Amino acid sequence: MARPGRVLISEAELRSRIAELGQELARDYARESPILVGVLQGAFLFMADLVRATPIDLTTDFIGVSSYGGSRSSGHVRILSDLSIPIEGRDVVIVEDIVDTGLTLTYLKRMLDARHPRSLRVCVLTDKIERRQVDVAVDYVGFTIPNVFVVGYGFDHDGLYRNLPYVAVLEGA
Ligand code: IMP
Repeated sequence: MARPGRVLISEAELRSRIAELGQELARDYARESPILVGVLQGAFLFMADLVRATPIDLTTDFIGVSSYGGSRSSGHVRILSDLSIPIEGRDVVIVEDIVDTGLTLTYLKRMLDARHPRSLRVCVLTDKIERRQVDVAVDYVGFTIPNVFVVGYGFDHDGLYRNLPYVAVLEGA
């Protein structure tokens, strides 16, 4: 049975890198009051820690998406729950757990861009750059990771392991 194995990103590493990302966002958005859009479910822990590390006025919202065909992306993205506030004219930062093939993010960016935000940027916790199929700009990256399937700290395998406080490699899959 597939289980979490080797720790890829420890709690301490998450804490210190997210503190840096929060400072970067605070610097870049000091005068803007941005909306941070967390992508459910994977980004919920990252979002919670990131906003606490970003000491500026900001608004949070969430969007729920699901890729068809299990945990690996097929590029067909379904919106399960939409934003609760309009983003027209606002500075928006998408907060995602991972950019893998890039298909989910490409779809999300296109969809949110059509609502005419003043600016739209992306902050991802992890970037699996080897797997990229489409070129999508990512503005803030926590960690570049190798082509392994990860669980923990929001990442799941069949709905499990999101609650681990670190990112581990799924072993025995
Ligand atoms: P993309 O569309 O291929 O960039 O994939 C994005 C989605 O695939 C993420 O939001 C995750 O839900 C899922 N995903 C990709 N790699 C992993 C992984 O290593 N662990 C858990 N989920 C993953």
